[in-house]
Formats: sequence, C-alpha cells, structure tokens
Amino acid sequence: MKALIVLVLCLQLHRISAAERCQLHHKGENRQFPEDFAFGVSTAAYQIEGGWNVDGKGLSIWDTYTHAHPERILDRTNGDEAAESYHRFEQDLAALKALKVKFYRFSFSWPRLLPNADTTVINQKGIDYYNNIIDKLLANDIEPMVTMFHCDLPEALNKFGGFTNDIIIKYFRFYADFLYKTFGDRVKKWITFNEPFDYCVLGYGRAYFPPLVHSPGVADYLCMDNTLRAHAAAYRSYKAKYFKRQGGKIGITISSRFYYTQRGDKHTIERAMQYSLGWLANPIYSKSGNYPQLVLDDIGNNSLREGLAWSRLPPFSEFWTKIIRGSGDFLGLNYYTSRYAELSQPPIGEVPSWEFDSQLEYTVDEKWKQGNSNWLYCVPQGLEDILKWIRDRYDNVEVFVTENGWSDYGALEDTDRIDFLQAHLQAVLNAINDGCNVTHYSHWSLIDNFEWNMGYTQKYGLYYLNLTSPHKERIAKMSAHYYRTVIESKKYYRY
Ligand SMILES: *[C@@H]1O[C@H](CO)[C@@H](O)[C@H](O)[C@H]1NC(C)=O
Ligand SMILES: *[C@@H]1O[C@H](CO)[C@@H](O)[C@H](O)[C@H]1NC(C)=O
Ligand SMILES: *[C@@H]1O[C@H](CO)[C@@H](O)[C@H](O)[C@H]1NC(C)=O
Repeated sequence: MKALIVLVLCLQLHRISAAERCQLHHKGENRQFPEDFAFGVSTAAYQIEGGWNVDGKGLSIWDTYTHAHPERILDRTNGDEAAESYHRFEQDLAALKALKVKFYRFSFSWPRLLPNADTTVINQKGIDYYNNIIDKLLANDIEPMVTMFHCDLPEALNKFGGFTNDIIIKYFRFYADFLYKTFGDRVKKWITFNEPFDYCVLGYGRAYFPPLVHSPGVADYLCMDNTLRAHAAAYRSYKAKYFKRQGGKIGITISSRFYYTQRGDKHTIERAMQYSLGWLANPIYSKSGNYPQLVLDDIGNNSLREGLAWSRLPPFSEFWTKIIRGSGDFLGLNYYTSRYAELSQPPIGEVPSWEFDSQLEYTVDEKWKQGNSNWLYCVPQGLEDILKWIRDRYDNVEVFVTENGWSDYGALEDTDRIDFLQAHLQAVLNAINDGCNVTHYSHWSLIDNFEWNMGYTQKYGLYYLNLTSPHKERIAKMSAHYYRTVIESKKYYRY
C-alpha cells in the first residue's frame, strides 16, 4: 500500500514538473496584447475537406499517394473524407464563431479550383465552395486569410516534375492571378506557399512525402528555388495588377525551429538558422537578397569537391534577386519546436544532402516535454528567440505566426495543450514587449485532422473531431475555452 502511494506520488510529481518545463516566465509588466493584435486558427484543405473526387475536383499528389501507398500512413487512412469540411463548413463556422477569432487561415485546394492545374478548366463548384466560406466568414466578422498552396500539388503538374520543373513558376503565377481575380475583392491576406522547406526536403530529398523523390541536395534545392521564384512572380503580379483596387497583403509561410548550442558558439546558431529560416527568408526579407552567403559558399565548395562543374545551389541571377527581394508584405512563421545544434565533424548524412552540406547535428534537451509527435518538444523560449532573430535580421518586418500547436491523443480535457498555448502566447507577448513586429497569432488547428503520414493518430485540434460519428461533430476541448478567454480579453492569462 505504502509502495503504491509512493508510486502514485512519483507519477504525479513527474507530471507536474514536466508541465512546468512547458512554461515561460513573464518579462516586464505588460500583460495586454495590443488592441489591434489578431488571434486566429489555421487549417489546410487536404487535412479537413474530404470530397476528394466530387464536383469536378482534380487529383492532388496526396490523393494519388495515399491511395497507392496506404502502408505509408500510420493508421492506413487518407484524406478522402477527413473532417468532411467540404460538406460541413457550417460546423467549422460554428466553432470559429464560438472561439471569437478575428481571422481564419485556411487553404484553397488548387486541383479543386483548376483540375488540370492550368486555366483550361475552371471548376465553378470549387469557386462556389470557397465563395460560400469567404462570404460567411465576412458576414460573421471573421477575416479570411488564404493559403494558396498547402502540400496538395495538382497531380497534373506532378506528371512533369512538379516543383523541380521551373514551368511551375508560370503555372503558379496564373493560378494566383485567377485567385486574385475571383476572390481578391474580399480576401486581403494571401499566403503563397506553406512550409516550402518541408514539402521540398521531405518530398524531393528524403522521399518521405509525395512525390517520393529521393534526390537529396539536388531536387529538394531545386524545389525551394522554384518555390521562391513562383512566390515572387505571384507577388509582383498582384502588386502590378490588383493591389491598387484590392489593397491586400501577400507573404509566404516558412517553418523554422530556433537553435541553441551546448558545446558550440554563436556561429553554430547562426549556421543552423541560415540553413533553415534563412534559406527561404534571406532572399525575400534581407537587404542584400539572395541565399545566405554561408550557404552558397558551403554548397559551392562541396559541389566542386564532389566533381560537379556547377553548384547544386547557384546564387539567383541579378534579375531574380531583384524580383524576389522585398516580395513579402509580412513573414508568415510556423513555429512548433526547437533543437540544440552542434557542428558535426565529419559531417553526417548522405553525400550530397542538406544534412551533409549544413555540417550540423541536432539533439534535444531531455527536460523538454514531448508531445504525441516524435519531433515535437515544448520550447516556448524558442518562439521568443526566433521572433527576435527575425526582428534583428530583417528590419523588423511584420510577422504573422501562422501556425503553432501541440499534438496529443485527443483528450477533451487537454491541459497539456493549454500549457503549450499559454507558454507560447507568453513568448509572443515577451517578443512584442521587446519591440518585435508580430501582429497575428494563429493556432494549429481548429479541429483534429489528417496529419499526413501520421493519419489521424496525432490530434492538434482545439476542437475534437468525432471521426466515428456520422455527423462528424466538432466538440470544444478545454483549450478552446481557454483560447476564447484570451481572445476576448486580449490579455495574457494563466489557466
Ligand atoms: C568556397 O568558400 C569560400 C569561402 O569559404 C568562398 O569565398 C568561395 O566562393 C567558395 N567557392 C564556391 C565555388 O562557392
Ligand atoms: C511593422 O510592419 C509594418 C508593415 O511592414 C510597418 O509598416 C511598420 O513600420 C513596422 N513596425 C515597426 C515597429 O517596425
Ligand atoms: C462520437 O460519436 C459516437 C457515435 O455517434 C458516440 O457514440 C460517441 O459518444 C461520440 N464521442 C464523443 C467523444 O462525443
């Protein structure tokens, strides 16, 4: 009996101290978010819509991949139905209204609108679906923030190389043009691409995501290169043809961790940051433009050493440097977690690869609390530090935190998610109090959804999704109530 009590005490102690590790201390006096600070929630088309083959929708690479390779998805599921948001937007809207969010970040499915990826076929049913979402949001004082591309590349484009073929620049520019023309009278916040590093390195380097290309250090770099140029082309087209009448803002969403170092020095942190956030942000938001010099030099030298006659990462031409530089009205940041980085000598990873080129190795702190995703540790300090890094490198550009969230097993009493959320709101507030230009925070996600290769096993929702029910109810978790309290008071508040 005594032993049992001790055991129970130990377990509890462990739980409490683990929870404490997911906290961040308040700095300064101010606990109030600025009056115009905006809170929202995020989703993405493939992860919630379902309706994969109805009403004229074309196929995306996630449709073909999950159908061809059910064994690659942890629970052998797919997004064929998901949360059925294609048929149940009313239920999403009810949740959004209950949360009192100021904006909703969702994505357009490119193949739902343009089944062939180009403008040869324009799917009116797809237009109707998104028009309804936008109009209902606006009628309820919720601003639409639209991601144009969130992983679901049209299969039509994949047939001839997807992101490795630079014709995607042209395709994307015409897709974007069609979006501005069709929805830009009401959509004023546009995000061109979501997390290029992830779909490029995982999709074209490590063959972990579709299109399952294994070409590390080559095709993944091409993918990021073409993404940056497609982004800038879409940005310039908006500014030239639509901005005067529509007056919106355009940015890109980049995912990044922050890096700490145990044995190394500040050069190691700088190296790790330039190989992640800097790779995509430097060309757009820095004064000089182009890729970080450190990255260009490493990869240029490695390429020669490997016997190539050119660099696997050539610098942008003067023309493209100019087009890309300044092509962002805000920087969208997806922040989930951080790492320790150390120089690896000799470098680890395949030759060539991003791991090898970067010469870095990553570890975690055993004190960091882990979520239900093997890569996700709660490190709120990293969000504060990455916001300051952006402030100092990129002239205090306006930042939207476009994603930040915690995975668990789906409990309605999700106190761990509340811990995570409150610690990261504290991080944002600390950064604001320190002069960082962050104006939007969007939690991932509104509802539990299809988490890519992890299927439905990892839950990120503020709302529980009842997958087994024919009505696919969305049920508010405890974290939804907590978030609403923060949104209503605009005040940081400890649960
Ligand atoms: C190799 O690196 C040095 C700096 O260490 C740089 O000056 C040089 O341009 C690089 N070479 C190539 C081919 O990129
Ligand atoms: C924040 O960003 C906006 C938009 O780019 C800019 O107009 C403003 O000057 C920035 N604020 C600060 C404090 O730098
Ligand atoms: C989910 O739906 C099923 C079937 O309607 C129901 O039995 C179950 O209680 C629901 N789960 C929750 C958590 O509401």
